Amino acid sequence: MVSEYYSPQVIDHFEHPRNAGAMEDADAQAYVTNPVCGDSLRLFLRIEDDHITRASFLSSGCPASIATSSAATELLAGKPLAEAEALTREAYADAVGGLPKSKIHCSVLAASAVRQAVAEWRNRLDPLAPSDGVA
Ligand code: FES
Repeated sequence: MVSEYYSPQVIDHFEHPRNAGAMEDADAQAYVTNPVCGDSLRLFLRIEDDHITRASFLSSGCPASIATSSAATELLAGKPLAEAEALTREAYADAVGGLPKSKIHCSVLAASAVRQAVAEWRNRLDPLAPSDGVA
């Protein structure tokens, strides 16, 4: 859904972010920035048996990036790694009821951070494994 305005879900996640804060016992993390606006996201993941069991985040960003990061932490909990990596920026935007057209790019931070964190975790487990090319 594309609208000019923030959805009630965006406003709710922005005003009451879920799982905000650093995670001391994270198994993987990623730091991503949007080169255009400078907004940033640090994502933390707990991983057990190839599943994400918990996620948290720190953000310095616009309401849309904070809302999609917050929604991402809820979406990711319990997901197999492969499913989490396959989530697109559209999935994160949909999780907050859609984003205004001018803010659609803001959900890229969450999608990029998840893929980067999982890739970093896999690389740490098996540094010689070939990359699957997911960016
Ligand atoms: S304006 Fe930068 S991520 Fe939203």
